[in-house]
Amino acid sequence: MHNAGLCGIAIGEVIFLNTNEKLVVLDFGGQFNQLITRRIRDLGVYCEIVPYDAAFESYSDGLIGLILTGGPASVNQDGAPKLEAGSLLRGVPVLGICYGMQLIASVFGGAVGKGEAEFGKAELTAQNHPLFKGFSSPSDVWMSHNDGVLSLPEGFSALASTSACPLAAFADEARRIYGVQFHPEASHSAQGSLLLSNFIYGICGAKGGWKMENLAGQMIDEIRAQVGGGTLVAGLSGGVDSSVAAVLAHKAIGDRLTCIFVDHGLMRLNEPQEVMEFYGNTLGLKIIHVDASERFLGALKGVADPEQKRKIIGREFVRVFEEEAAKTGAECLLQGTIYPDIIESGVGNAAVIKSHHNVGGLPEDSKFRELVEPLKMLFKDEVRALGEAIGIPSKLVWRQPFPGPGLGIRVIGELTIEKLDKLRLCDAILREEIALAGLDREVWQYFAVLPGIRTVGVKGDARTYVDVVAIRAITSVDAMSGEPAELPYSLLKKISNRMTNEVEGVSRVVYDISSKPPATIEWE
Ligand code: XMP
Repeated sequence: MHNAGLCGIAIGEVIFLNTNEKLVVLDFGGQFNQLITRRIRDLGVYCEIVPYDAAFESYSDGLIGLILTGGPASVNQDGAPKLEAGSLLRGVPVLGICYGMQLIASVFGGAVGKGEAEFGKAELTAQNHPLFKGFSSPSDVWMSHNDGVLSLPEGFSALASTSACPLAAFADEARRIYGVQFHPEASHSAQGSLLLSNFIYGICGAKGGWKMENLAGQMIDEIRAQVGGGTLVAGLSGGVDSSVAAVLAHKAIGDRLTCIFVDHGLMRLNEPQEVMEFYGNTLGLKIIHVDASERFLGALKGVADPEQKRKIIGREFVRVFEEEAAKTGAECLLQGTIYPDIIESGVGNAAVIKSHHNVGGLPEDSKFRELVEPLKMLFKDEVRALGEAIGIPSKLVWRQPFPGPGLGIRVIGELTIEKLDKLRLCDAILREEIALAGLDREVWQYFAVLPGIRTVGVKGDARTYVDVVAIRAITSVDAMSGEPAELPYSLLKKISNRMTNEVEGVSRVVYDISSKPPATIEWE
């Protein structure tokens, strides 16, 4: 659920976990930066990303290596993000990637300028060097650059080239500074993970062994430190991110955590009861159920415009949540913000892709002293792995995403209880059949939509003029893009038969076969 306007990370604010060894990625704004941290964690070493100009002391604990990312700027342009040479001489090895390599060249006196632009796959020929240990030659790498290093700085030697890029990698062994023009984090760089592994183990001397399970203990300590002797309140939607955050917080401070579940009346069939039962009984959380369905439906009466509906739902949600939170007297607010929420919102030096409601910091008039966001450095699949590691049942960990505005954006046009109830029944049939077919983990999201169109049909020899229901089932990795799921025809027919037979006032079912883009996943 989106806690619009309530919550988030302050730009540039970084909370570090206590780790014995870690890599830090300095962010210069490249779109794939998050993948670097991800790959390194997958290789068994803890890694975090920070703005390129973050104070060294804020991240130096346990530091064994620094990575400088790519970015959209040219080092020669005015205002380009820069670092002093001293920032790269901290006694730990440094690896610059793309812009990061060009920055190193420029800082130490090499020349950077327009070379031959290279986008996409290139063949790299590398020398025998620890950074390229185990590499086949040539090796496919992924390039994306206009500028290139044109001459080496003093003390550096060339390590690799492609046909368009004579200086595709370099090293200064004495100062332990390295650079690669290509993107090892991209999956199209066939041996990219090997290069990162060579850097972190061969050059930085990492011991490794970091696992997702380790993170749970570190996060619990961190939450305890943040909340101190105080109390914490959390908005719980039933989704995986807020649940994992709440279970971690519960392990940290026990009943000093109060969860608030705002039921806006736009939930799926039996969802409010299931959420309450599951969180209260199975997970043992202290949870307050606020039935605000009348309030929401009242505020939405007569409203058909999708954006207006979203705004009203967001506004009412914040009001109800604040009213309830105030009753608890809690000083801190727990958020299930995850890393893509932050990066897509253009925090740091990345371009804004899409603003997420839950990013941007506490409003100035907030009653809360502090935000607690234990998951803000993780990706969705890492949150799921963490959820499983701390014993949250798979049924919840693998729940499909459900939007904050709920069925309010799946009943097209004005909402009524009758329409919502009809949709709830159709949606329950769809979910049941997809689970029975064993496709509930394979398909990213699957739901029914009530488009508000009536068509003519025939039932029991009589004419009907009732609703059409649309099925939406989509595969995706991150919800940024998606393809319609190719559900078996026999399954679609079974779902259609059940909906038209079991749900009063439905005579026709259609299947949405559009990709995102140009469609979006939700219809509104
Ligand atoms: P779209 O429709 O933009 O959806 O392709 C992308 C993903 O985001 C979910 N979604 C939302 N989630 N609050 C949420 O918490 C919202 O307002 C919201 N709108 C869309 C959608 O279900 C899909 O997973």
